[in-house]
Amino acid sequence: MSPDQPTDWHAWHQEYDDPGSSLSRRLTVVREQLANLLADRRVGRPGPLTLLSLCAGDGRDTLPVLAATDAQVTAVLVELDPVLADAARASAVGLGLDVDVRTDDAGLVASWLDVVPVDVLLLCGVLGNISDDDVRSTLRGAALMLQQGGTVIWTRGAQGAGDDPSERVRELLRDAGGWEEVAFVKSDDASYRVGVHRWEGIAAGVLADRLFAFVS
Ligand SMILES: C[S@@+](CC[C@H](N)C(=O)[O-])C[C@H]1O[C@@H](n2cnc3c(N)ncnc32)[C@H](O)[C@@H]1O
Repeated sequence: MSPDQPTDWHAWHQEYDDPGSSLSRRLTVVREQLANLLADRRVGRPGPLTLLSLCAGDGRDTLPVLAATDAQVTAVLVELDPVLADAARASAVGLGLDVDVRTDDAGLVASWLDVVPVDVLLLCGVLGNISDDDVRSTLRGAALMLQQGGTVIWTRGAQGAGDDPSERVRELLRDAGGWEEVAFVKSDDASYRVGVHRWEGIAAGVLADRLFAFVS
């Protein structure tokens, strides 16, 4: 973290061009987990499901799944980069979806406060780009951002042999209480990990003005 140069998120997305890359394989897992959730009626209350994706990139983990599901979903994607946000909007239109893509700072609660609590929250490509303190505040915030019975899909890459920060994320959620681990997908030969946790607790507290800021 804290590289000299800020990450070029357009270049980062190009790893998706290689179908065998760790990122592409992670994408397949995220899409599968999201499709499973939407097919699972326990995910939400009656009526359209609500979904919020923070730092959504070009929306490729979410939009094709929304286009393929029978579930009615009201979706909001928040992405700071205007080019990527425009790409998400264009994909949504191409897929015949009516999705609210916001070109905003997702770390600022005001960017999405009007739509929470939601049934599905995506934190993909977020937890590895923020400080440990912000990981904690974001996970605390997630409990307040979800309906009871709602679910967060999160990702966290492993750094190398012996260092697997995804285990810290799981531990934080376990220790917080109220979370049920629905799935945890760990690649044996690639760095990606995908967690799926359902919020079954009773949310207490209030959201701060900001959950996180990217440090990479
Ligand atoms: C690691 S990528 C993940 C993209 C997408 N969620 C995915 O997994 O394909 C991180 C994304 O967060 C965006 N980003 C960085 N800081 C942000 C912020 N404060 N608010 C919203 N988006 C941000 C970047 O532009 C980039 O698209």
